[in-house]
Amino acid sequence: MDNLEPGQSQHLLPALPYSHAALEPHIDARTMTLHHDQHHASYVANLNATLESIPELHERTALWLLLNLSKVPEKIRTAVRNNAGGHVNHSLFWRAMSPAASGAPAGPLADAIDRDFGSFEQFKYQFTETGGALFGSGWIWLARSQQDSGRLQIYTTSGHDNPLMQGRFPILVNDVWEHAYYLKYENRRSDYLQDWWAVADWEEAARRFETSDQFALQEWEGEGGLVLRASR
Ligand SMILES: [Fe+2]
Repeated sequence: MDNLEPGQSQHLLPALPYSHAALEPHIDARTMTLHHDQHHASYVANLNATLESIPELHERTALWLLLNLSKVPEKIRTAVRNNAGGHVNHSLFWRAMSPAASGAPAGPLADAIDRDFGSFEQFKYQFTETGGALFGSGWIWLARSQQDSGRLQIYTTSGHDNPLMQGRFPILVNDVWEHAYYLKYENRRSDYLQDWWAVADWEEAARRFETSDQFALQEWEGEGGLVLRASR
């Protein structure tokens, strides 16, 4: 940040919406500290460094970059995909969890989960199984298709890709990179996925479900945690 010229802007690491220890015992404070303050911070720093020599992209949000990779110069495209994706996904992930989680969805989202998965228990089972089966590093999502009458789907992405890149709106997300759980759960990813339900924020998921349409995209870009760019 100190090398910035006046008027230049950079992507910013959003603050956690709770303390590092707030999700204990399900997610330990040490993991949260490394995950947010080191891993997420490094994606932001790498994104800024990658974009430094491309002034025409300086005013673009991380989400815009991710959804417009064809407009990003080829020599930096992979780095932008990885780091903008890491930045966007982690920004969503912190807000997909809460120390005051209700344990289950309510309202229209609960109805849609029953409709598309049979029951909430069936949904949880499928989500946990699918996350456990994901090979390598990636993310597991509850997403809403833009086609097929907006049906809900369980969906995985590799690396730091985001469902919006393939026309699906993220409703709920869990990070299944090893850095998300390895200190506490070691190699037991399925234990982590099971325990994670205790902190899944269904109020946030319901809010995303109720705004999951084309018109919401711009609003999402404007949310704190996704713009992540500040002039100085
Ligand atoms: Fe992560």
